[in-house]
Amino acid sequence: MKTGFGRIIALLKPHRKLFGVALTLELVNIITRLIVPRLTARVVNDVITDGLYDLLYPLCGAILALTVARALFTYIRACIFHKISQDITFDLRTGLYDHLQEMPWAFFDKNRVGEIMSRMTGDLNNVRNFLCNTTFSIYMNLLCFAGSFVFMMFMSPEVTLMVLVMAPVIALVAWKFNKKIRPVFREIREQNAVINTRAQEDLAGMHVVKAFAREDYEEERFNKDNRDLLTKNLQATWIWSSFLPFMDLLSSLCTPITLAGGALMVSLGRMDIGTLVGVTGYIWMLTNPMRQVAGIINATAQAITSSEKFFYYCDLGSDIREREDAESPAEFRGHVVFDHVTFSYGDKTVLKDICLDVQPGQTVAVMGATGSGKSTLVTLLGRYYDIQSGSLLVDGIDVRRHKLKPLRKHIGFVQQEAFLFSDTIEDNIRYGKPDAPHEAVARAARTARADEFIEASPQGYDTIIGERGMGLSGGQRQRTSIARAVLIDPSILILDDSTSAVDMETEYEIQNELKSVLKDRTTFIIAHRISSVKNADQIIVLRDGEIAERGKHSELMQLGGIYAGMVADQMSSAVKVA
Ligand SMILES: Nc1ncnc2c1ncn2[C@@H]1O[C@H](COP(=O)(O)OP(=O)(O)OP(=O)(O)O)[C@@H](O)[C@H]1O
Ligand SMILES: [Mg+2]
Repeated sequence: MKTGFGRIIALLKPHRKLFGVALTLELVNIITRLIVPRLTARVVNDVITDGLYDLLYPLCGAILALTVARALFTYIRACIFHKISQDITFDLRTGLYDHLQEMPWAFFDKNRVGEIMSRMTGDLNNVRNFLCNTTFSIYMNLLCFAGSFVFMMFMSPEVTLMVLVMAPVIALVAWKFNKKIRPVFREIREQNAVINTRAQEDLAGMHVVKAFAREDYEEERFNKDNRDLLTKNLQATWIWSSFLPFMDLLSSLCTPITLAGGALMVSLGRMDIGTLVGVTGYIWMLTNPMRQVAGIINATAQAITSSEKFFYYCDLGSDIREREDAESPAEFRGHVVFDHVTFSYGDKTVLKDICLDVQPGQTVAVMGATGSGKSTLVTLLGRYYDIQSGSLLVDGIDVRRHKLKPLRKHIGFVQQEAFLFSDTIEDNIRYGKPDAPHEAVARAARTARADEFIEASPQGYDTIIGERGMGLSGGQRQRTSIARAVLIDPSILILDDSTSAVDMETEYEIQNELKSVLKDRTTFIIAHRISSVKNADQIIVLRDGEIAERGKHSELMQLGGIYAGMVADQMSSAVKVA
């Protein structure tokens, strides 16, 4: 696989025709630039020295025409380059974004949002800058150098060689510069990602920061990271600023050397004055590319460093992929079977040998201490993680053989931490079913007992929630996310601790509503309150990732184990409170 430079260049492939047009225009451009000094030499030799004044106007007219044509070509070429670079940026950004959508949950467990954002903005911009400006600069400078070299050699090989005396020195300095600056750029990119991640996390968690009065600590941490970035940036600037004038000096030395050498040759009668004037016109074209070497190396090094991380994300594969022969059941009924399921996060085994058969329409309550694996158990249903052994069947098909989207569309998942988008309440509820009419949204809200607070808010269902809009209480958020899950009319509903912030009476009402709406639907309820689970068809109690107890409320009470202990604890605390 191509890496770094080759891979960036390959991005131009789909645009090669347009790119070719731009390069051709630039070629014509450079040819016009190469012709002008020759015409100037003729003005001096033919018009001024030999007195052929008839030639003055045609020669000046030609110089003027070439200059105007060059301006026009430059404009068209610049437009084409910008179009290509914006198209590539668009493709890369959407490509990465679409790719991220395909990544499994485990990816988002490990990678931080700030870092991903940094790849999508700063790094992408460096690659864009390279494609738009640097590739062109390399091409133009190479042509200028080669063209002026040929033309100068034709006019005066001696003067040309005088100019080139500095070339090896400039090449050596440029090589050293590249070696020095690349690692610094890599560190800067990394540090940028650190800063972005820190800022994103701090701003998102600002409520916690303020609640614990840790502003000073966060400021200090951020300042430290920012200072590190400053140091690295200064280091890069220092390298850059010490090389740039040095390179300038070396290439500028070419001009006096040439003039002195040329003047000597004119005085010795080995060159006419017109040729010297003409040759001087090429000095800039020959030396400027040498001056540009440092800038080109700088931009190329930045682009390569940026692209490494950018492509790293693009190349990450998802291990949760739909199989080629994936299938969907003729009808989703919500029959769930865990058959000796074992699951680990990395090395940490969280669920061990789980066996559970949930018939369509049944309600299963999952109980257990915190960290016992309840959320993990229900997460496996939508194949957000793959199990290590055993099999998990939904309507008779192993989830690894299911078509992913239809499977997930049939699971209404109210996650433990209800995330809502900064959008209207209506659109938040409608998220899983964008074409749902308002009546259906309102019905779902009623089922989740969210209708009252929504209707009481100033803009009703059009109220914007989240960052810029109205804040919601914990219970209101939970009810909105229950409505969102109910609206998709799922075959399996998962309520992961989703009424923990709702008062007992409302919770009871929600459950009653759900019962009638989700008749014949399979429901998984994770809850801590006995009142929420005692009517379930099956109650399972997890302990250390294993099912320690299972049965109906009455059976578990009779068993007198963990469940009965929980009931007793809750009863006694209720009595104490009373
Ligand atoms: N994304 C993850 N990556 C690694 N380990 C995880 C991840 N999510 C959970 N765990 C670990 O797996 C174990 C089970 O977590 P899980 O969230 O399933 O517990 P839970 O029973 O739902 O707890 P709670 O009642 O607090 O919600 C915990 O020890 C937790 O640290
Ligand atoms: Mg949980």
